[in-house]
Order: sequence, then structure tokens, then C-alpha cells
Amino acid sequence: MTDLSPADMAKKAAADRAVEFVQDGMRLGLGTGSTAAFMVKRLGERVRTEGLRVVGVPTSSRTAALARAEGIRVVTLDQAGWLDLTIDGADEFDADLTLIKGGGGAHLQEKVVAAASDRMIVITDPAKRVSQLGAFPLPVEVLQFGQGSTEKHIARVLAGLGYGARRITIRMAGDQPFVSDEGNHILDLHMGEITDARTLSVALNQIPGVVENGLFINISDLVVIGHTNGRSELIEAAPGVEAAMRTVRTREHDPFADIGAEQ
Ligand code: 5RP
Repeated sequence: MTDLSPADMAKKAAADRAVEFVQDGMRLGLGTGSTAAFMVKRLGERVRTEGLRVVGVPTSSRTAALARAEGIRVVTLDQAGWLDLTIDGADEFDADLTLIKGGGGAHLQEKVVAAASDRMIVITDPAKRVSQLGAFPLPVEVLQFGQGSTEKHIARVLAGLGYGARRITIRMAGDQPFVSDEGNHILDLHMGEITDARTLSVALNQIPGVVENGLFINISDLVVIGHTNGRSELIEAAPGVEAAMRTVRTREHDPFADIGAEQ
């Protein structure tokens, strides 16, 4: 018997399936959000019951607290050096396994951690699968300093890319702007649809004051979709996409390898 809602059943199904990919000795990136919380709890169970020896690099203070409570050894990304696997949720994903992330306001650390991992497994429910990205507002983390001018630049960039005027809202936490773990604010871009994620991502990240946008391109290796009946479905990145990503992300191409930063 379970008292989980159907939506939580789906999230748990995805999380449980993804944790099956974890092996003894792995260094793991631990995502943020409600689906990722199920993953951290399942991982904690495996640590306690199987004696699994893993270290986890959390992508937010929330996940760090949960991981510690679950008995998972938590280290920083720099202590870990490089990660075997990151498991994280998403707000949307498309056929190329491009993601929108940041609904929980943690996409900056999530992207840094996923990019420093050999593999990324995305855990989702069927509602996150879209034919075109953009219904979910795109989070963009910005410095608090000069936030108004950064927002004007973003509006100009969107217009220049042919998106026209798009509503941009500041993420709130109650009656105050939400502040990320890195001390920044988040602007949500109500795009409606994103026709060229790569061009948009590059253009946004070139604006002074933009710290990172929530598009994850060529980072995901596998999406696990959980269903309300407890079943799960796997969608792998197309071989070409995976190869392109691995070119920049495998251990062999670890940019820190030459200076011995990898553990
Ligand atoms: C946090 C994220 C989350 O992974 C994303 O918002 C999905 O969250 P949830 O699993 O609660 O739907 O990107 O920054």
C-alpha cells in the first residue's frame, strides 16, 4: 500500500529506476527538485541496506541537507574532481533530450555538476515530454547587480532572434525576489516556444549580468520517464548527439586532467 499521489508514483518510479544505474564506488551528482528528492531517498536506502559506498555532490543546499539526512556522504564538486553519473529532474525535454531546467531555481549548480559528469540521467514524468520546448518559462539566473539593464539586454536579444516581445518576470519567494544558492536572482522568460535552443542559449549567456540559462543541450544521455502505474520507460540520446556530448565531457577530455585535479 502507498499513500503517494499518482504524480508522485510516477516521479518515484523514474527515480527508483535511475538509481538502479548506480554502482558501488561511484561519484554522483545529486539533482534538485521533487523528483530528485525521490532519487536521493532511494539512494539513501541503498547506502543503508546494501552498504553502497558512493559520494554525492548536491546541486543545491536543499539536496545537500536531504542527502546528509539520508546518510549519503556529501562532498563538493572540487573534492570529487569528476563525476561518474548525475541524476536530476527536468521541467521539459524534447526529442533531442534537450532540457529546460531551473524550475526549482538550481539550474546553475545543476549545469555545472552535469557538465562535470560522464553521464547524466534525467528523471521525469510523461507531462515533461514536449515536441517543442518553451511552454515552461525559461529560467535565466542573473546577477542582482544591474538586473534591470540585464533584463533590457535579454528583451533586445529575444527581439533580435525573432521572438518578438516576450514577458519576462522575476522569480519571487513570497513577497521578495527568490535568491539562488549563489546569491543571484532568476528571470523567467515566457517564451511560448523555443525554435532554436542552441542559438538562444549562446546569445543569452553572452549578455553581461547573465550567469546561466536553464537550457541543457547535449548533456543528457538518458531520460527515464516514470508512469503512474509504477512502470518506467527509457529514452536514450541519439548516437550522434551522445557522441558530440562525449567529445567534450569524457574523462579523456577532462580539461583538468593535465593538472592532476581528477581524483
Ligand atoms: C530544479 C530543477 C528541477 O529538476 C526541475 O524543476 C524539476 O523539478 P520537479 O522534479 O520538482 O518537477 O531544474 O532547478
